[in-house]
Amino acid sequence: MSTLKVENLTKEYGDVTALDEVSFEIEDEFAVLLGESGAGKSTLLRCANGLTEPTEGGIHLDGGEIAGSRTDVGMIFQQHNLVDGVSAYLNALTGSLDRVSMLESLMQWQSREDKLRALEALETVGLLDEAHQRVSQMSGGQQQRVGIARALVQEPRLLLADEPVASLDPASAETVMGYLRKAAIEHDVTALVSLHQVNIAAHFGDRFIGLRDGELLFDVGRDELTPELIDELYGNVETVGLAEMDDQAAIGLEDDGADDSTAEDRQRRVQA
Ligand SMILES: Nc1ncnc2c1ncn2[C@@H]1O[C@H](COP(=O)(O)OP(=O)(O)OP(=O)(O)O)[C@@H](O)[C@H]1O
Ligand SMILES: [Mg+2]
Repeated sequence: MSTLKVENLTKEYGDVTALDEVSFEIEDEFAVLLGESGAGKSTLLRCANGLTEPTEGGIHLDGGEIAGSRTDVGMIFQQHNLVDGVSAYLNALTGSLDRVSMLESLMQWQSREDKLRALEALETVGLLDEAHQRVSQMSGGQQQRVGIARALVQEPRLLLADEPVASLDPASAETVMGYLRKAAIEHDVTALVSLHQVNIAAHFGDRFIGLRDGELLFDVGRDELTPELIDELYGNVETVGLAEMDDQAAIGLEDDGADDSTAEDRQRRVQA
């Protein structure tokens, strides 16, 4: 149970305003961050895990400064940042690194609790039977699930992921997102995940944060994510497409028999 509060968050890089007074709050939810390339998604996530210092405003986790509580934040990367040559189990175990040293970790001197936690986390992501397999011999989707397990072993209160499925094929992307959501729910962790694929976002998110040019465009729940909002987010308000379709078809990208160019535009926009 935890609350992430983003307050007037502003980040400037020279004269580029990457984030412009963004405010929202998520509590015990699986929230998805949406927006075009350059909208500020990665900047927001980097501020949330303390890697980037905001220019103004701030982010609080359960009322405390995030910068001082890095171990409370578990991060899952697009490039999974695992140690290739060793097992899924040892990789998951390094999630306890903030509590023990690298040497202790590699020598497996962790406590019995850490070891059990690593196995339990691998079970959560459906990889208990593959615990001893080397990460280099696993598929991209499995590797990403090891990354999720490692973040869980850290016992965070907040899970962040920056485009965790961007490099995966659609089927693996859905599988990984399913495990990520399951992990967050089973471990009672608030999650903020940036995604490019609107259809996947709509399938897994409880809450949707839309950024456009560094500004908060929307902060809506499941029932409020309309095709109109998606069109606005991707800057095509005048384009015939998503807005004319019913929500399900728009979000699921089913071809509704509309003319091909419209379907293609929509596809491009949603997959971009
Ligand atoms: N370290 C940096 N130095 C200068 N400008 C930066 C830096 N990081 C990000 N920016 C700028 O800030 C803006 C937001 O970038 P950000 O990476 O947060 O977008 P994004 O939504 O993650 O995009 P993408 O979907 O392509 O990953 C962009 O204009 C980008 O060029
Ligand atoms: Mg990014």
